[in-house]
Amino acid sequence: MDLEVQNIRREYKVGSLSRKDMPADPIQKSEEWIQEAIRLDVIEPTAVVVGTCGPDLQPSTRTVLLKEIHDGRFIFYSNYESRKGHQINENPKVSLTFLWHQLERQIHIEGVCRHVAPEVSDAYFAQRSYKSRIGARISPQSHIIPSRMFIVTEFAKEALKYRLDVPRPETWGGFEVTPHHIEFWQGRESRLHDRFLYELQQDGTWSLCRIAP
Ligand SMILES: Cc1cc2nc3c(=O)[nH]c(=O)nc-3n(C[C@H](O)[C@H](O)[C@H](O)COP(=O)(O)O)c2cc1C
Repeated sequence: MDLEVQNIRREYKVGSLSRKDMPADPIQKSEEWIQEAIRLDVIEPTAVVVGTCGPDLQPSTRTVLLKEIHDGRFIFYSNYESRKGHQINENPKVSLTFLWHQLERQIHIEGVCRHVAPEVSDAYFAQRSYKSRIGARISPQSHIIPSRMFIVTEFAKEALKYRLDVPRPETWGGFEVTPHHIEFWQGRESRLHDRFLYELQQDGTWSLCRIAP
């Protein structure tokens, strides 16, 4: 089947970025862009692609939902025994990519990831819906299962066991990414996009430079 994908072309005209738009702190700019995506009703405005790489040097990526930016760290929740969970244990260097098609914007982050404190995970877990809490308990994320029936049955059994209070399983919790490299990308016409790169310096300040599209 000829998908004719080579003929799909779009000019990016929604916005622009200049140095005056870039504050000293890229966390502030990240929050600003995420808030704007939320305000403009972008679908899944907090979706972010997490890149990990285990000791075999095979990178892998998947989408998660950002749940908080706290003290400059980007927090998402997942299963500690999942593929990403194991890769992060073995190599905490990760990447995060936010992409908002409607805004023609992307933020690309590189940093170091670790588990959040158990009490932070407990607090977030308690806010999740009942079904999400049950799901987190029974899903052996990323592992082979025999059938859909298996997971549906496990869900039903666990729901009978925990009618109200659903404890957080130790295998599920938050990951926080401390960034040292943050790039803001705004699409422009003729593929002459605007890109600004922040890099964390030894003294804790961020350098800022424009980089080529
Ligand atoms: C829009 C979207 C949001 C998702 N959010 C999460 C999330 O917050 N946490 C999570 O563990 N998986 C989430 N997933 C599923 C992951 O992409 C992935 O399938 C799962 O985490 C297992 O990844 P792994 O096998 O690489 O560890 C989401 C998927 C999509 C498409």
